[in-house]
Amino acid sequence: MKKLIIINGPNLNLLGKREPNIYGSLSFTEFLEEVKIKYPKVSIDYFQSNIEGELIDKLQEVGFTYDGIVLNAAAYTHTSVGIGDAVKAIETPVVEVHISNTFNREEFRHQSFISPNAKGVILGFGLQSYELAIQSF
Ligand code: DQA
Repeated sequence: MKKLIIINGPNLNLLGKREPNIYGSLSFTEFLEEVKIKYPKVSIDYFQSNIEGELIDKLQEVGFTYDGIVLNAAAYTHTSVGIGDAVKAIETPVVEVHISNTFNREEFRHQSFISPNAKGVILGFGLQSYELAIQSF
C-alpha cells in the first residue's frame, strides 16, 4: 500500500469558512473523508499547521520513509526559503498543490520556493488539485 501524506500550511484549517468564493465551501475534514473512501488502496495521512517550523519538522519526519507528499504550503509557498530547502533536502517526492490558480491572482503569488524542487505542480482545480496529486503517485 502506498503511503502518502497531505501537508497543509497556514489558514488552510479555515477551508469552508475562508473566502469561499476562492477556496470553496467544503471543510478539509469533509473533503478528506471523501477522498479516503475514494482511494481505499492508498494510505493518506494528514497534517496541518500555521507554523513554518512545524511544517519543516513534518517534512523532515516523513521525508525519508513515505512514498509521496502532497504539499500546499499556502502563503509560505511564496516566502519560505526554509520550506523550499526542506523539500530539496528530503528524498520523498513532493507534489506542490494549490486550490486556486495562483497565476491569475496577485503578483506575489506567482513566486514559489517549492516548485524548483517539486516533482510537479498542480493548481487551480479547487480541492480536486489534491486528488490529482494523489493520483500522480
Ligand atoms: C493557496 C494559494 C496561496 O497563495 C494562499 O496564500 C493560500 C492558499 C491555494 O491553495 O490556492 O493560502 O496555496
